[in-house]
Amino acid sequence: MKKRTLIQAAACTALLSAGPLAWAQGAPFKIGLILPMTGQQATTGRQIEAAARLWVAQNGDTVAGRKVELIVKDDTSLPDQTRRLAQELVVNEKVDVLAGMGITPSAMAVAPIATQSKTPLVVMAAATSSITEASPFIVRTSFTLPQASVGMADWAPKNGIKTVVTLVSDYGPGIDAEKYFTDRFVFNGGKVADKLRVPLRNPDFAPFLQKVRDLKPDALFVFVPSGAGAAVMKQFGERGMDKAGIKLIGTGDVTDDDQLNDMGDVALNVVTSHHYSAAHPSPANKKFVEAFQKANKNLRPNFMAVGGYDGMRVIYEALKKTGGKGGGQALVDGMKGQIFESPRGPVFIDAQTRDVVQTIYLRKVEKKDGQLWNVEFDAIKDVKDPGKAR
Ligand code: PHB
Repeated sequence: MKKRTLIQAAACTALLSAGPLAWAQGAPFKIGLILPMTGQQATTGRQIEAAARLWVAQNGDTVAGRKVELIVKDDTSLPDQTRRLAQELVVNEKVDVLAGMGITPSAMAVAPIATQSKTPLVVMAAATSSITEASPFIVRTSFTLPQASVGMADWAPKNGIKTVVTLVSDYGPGIDAEKYFTDRFVFNGGKVADKLRVPLRNPDFAPFLQKVRDLKPDALFVFVPSGAGAAVMKQFGERGMDKAGIKLIGTGDVTDDDQLNDMGDVALNVVTSHHYSAAHPSPANKKFVEAFQKANKNLRPNFMAVGGYDGMRVIYEALKKTGGKGGGQALVDGMKGQIFESPRGPVFIDAQTRDVVQTIYLRKVEKKDGQLWNVEFDAIKDVKDPGKAR
């Protein structure tokens, strides 16, 4: 190649970021996985990275003749960091796909970068309903809080719970959980005695729990993000709330499989609604849990791991559909409408919303062989995000 052609090619690559040109040059297909590997949300990063690596170990690192490269970056769950890392990954590394997003503010910070650079952003964790509307390049493989909350609002009033207090982390997913749970619960004839919000960073649950004790509802509905459930459960027990006749209910974030086994007997009989339990009794899940634990010193996978594992599948399948060529829009188009069996059960990526449609299970914490599990006892099939019906 002449020098001039080389310079032109280089300029072109810089503008187009990755995509078909990189393919033509035999470059690897790069996935920039931005996760909270340290800090308050570190368990989410650990779970998703382990799941993504398991996917690659099981499915190979070559897709349609293209070598796949995973680049993992730690954003410490600070959205300014997530934005900076995403920019770097797009401009310098020329990643073909961005993925991860441990919390909602991270996903929202990266959405404009995905749009401007036409880079698909696969959201594997963050779960506020509106995230997928923040960019046409976002595809989600986790869940939404409205999706997970509504099942509990239908179950509770039929099971002796007439009054509740809600306690949620004061940001996107907590506000979604509060709204969609209470609206439906009231619609079903229930009464909401109070709605409490706790800060996301370094929350002290004690004063809030004291208030709940005084109000003495039939149940306390809780949403806290993955990793914070054990602290709530501990203080709930220490304050003797369960002995005072107050039940704990919530989305499955509070009985997170990453922590559940260490929560102790206070977690027993807690009922939650969610899209994934490590105890999901399907052959596909048994295989997944076994392989995950084998590769990770017996760590039990949680719902974050499944979001990561399925996110990798969605990326691989989309890359196959482009024959290894990639390209932002072609990849997003290849992600839309995918249907597959996940360890969580059947999953569908809605082509209109780019959001995940899935079964929501009602589960109760039970002890089996000395270990605590979220044991599923009912299932609501094909639940779309209720937040999209606005
Ligand atoms: C979020 O920030 O969107 C989020 C994080 C952890 C969860 C659920 C939602 O468990």
